[in-house]
Amino acid sequence: MKEQPVVDCHFEDRVAYVVIQRPQALNALNSEVLARLEHVLDELQEKAPRCVVFQGAGERAFVAGADIAEMEKMDLVEARSFARRGQILLQRIEEFPAAVIAAVRGYALGGGLELALACDLIVASDDAQLGQPEIQLGIIPGFGGTQRLVRRVGPGMARYLVFSGARISATEALRVGLVDRVVPAAELSSAVNALARELASKPWFALQQAKAALRTAWHTDLVSGCEREADAFALAFAHPDRREGMQAFLQKRPPKFS
Ligand code: CAA
Repeated sequence: MKEQPVVDCHFEDRVAYVVIQRPQALNALNSEVLARLEHVLDELQEKAPRCVVFQGAGERAFVAGADIAEMEKMDLVEARSFARRGQILLQRIEEFPAAVIAAVRGYALGGGLELALACDLIVASDDAQLGQPEIQLGIIPGFGGTQRLVRRVGPGMARYLVFSGARISATEALRVGLVDRVVPAAELSSAVNALARELASKPWFALQQAKAALRTAWHTDLVSGCEREADAFALAFAHPDRREGMQAFLQKRPPKFS
């Protein structure tokens, strides 16, 4: 029997679905998964989907973190390079020039939550549990969690999650802004598919410009950020989708974007 790859990537129309498939280890991220995700991202760069969805195989977990059995054997040099490898991968996901959605079912812990945090939008099922439990292993988040959590939920909640290692429910995660939407578990796939299709239908170039401008807000002052926004606004004006969008509005018809 052919062994299934630890990461599958398939396309439906202009949406790419990336599925982490190690359900026996709750989809924990080991070196093989990281290598395969790196490869998938190369492929996505080439195929240029309009939206990407990350999900975990099975119903129990999105991803339960980096692989503890593998990490247990690492020395500090290997640990640092493992962290950098994960960080670089997640940065590529964050900067991917299309909308990226994390579809979180079950556990999103440690590196799993960090993967979700690198996505543009997190849609969780109502049975999801999220957290950064690394403190319980005597370590800290290593795939960008300390940085992205602060930006997403603010310093107080980020400290609470990282210091306590507590797992929080989807409802609580929605309340604190850690996830963007919560749906009943049975409806997660249909809700995510509908959102992915909707985002894939948007004028792609404008969405890319919006994504880049929004990201600028993380690391710049307001005045420089607004200048960056004006550049992105002007670039969108130079694209044929802008003419189509405005003419369609004036002609009272639906737009047909490229
Ligand atoms: N790494 C390796 N294996 C893992 C794993 C992980 N992160 N999480 C779960 N597994 C494995 C378990 O070892 C178990 O394997 P066996 O059946 O071979 O024993 C299998 O998945 C099922 O897990 P459990 O039997 O533990 O299932 P449970 O329902 O009792 O508990 C859980 C579920 C609460 C998620 C528990 O598995 C757990 O606490 N997992 C670890 C979560 C964690 O600490 N994540 C952070 C990792 S560190 C990190 O991510 C660092 C970073 O920032 C890069």
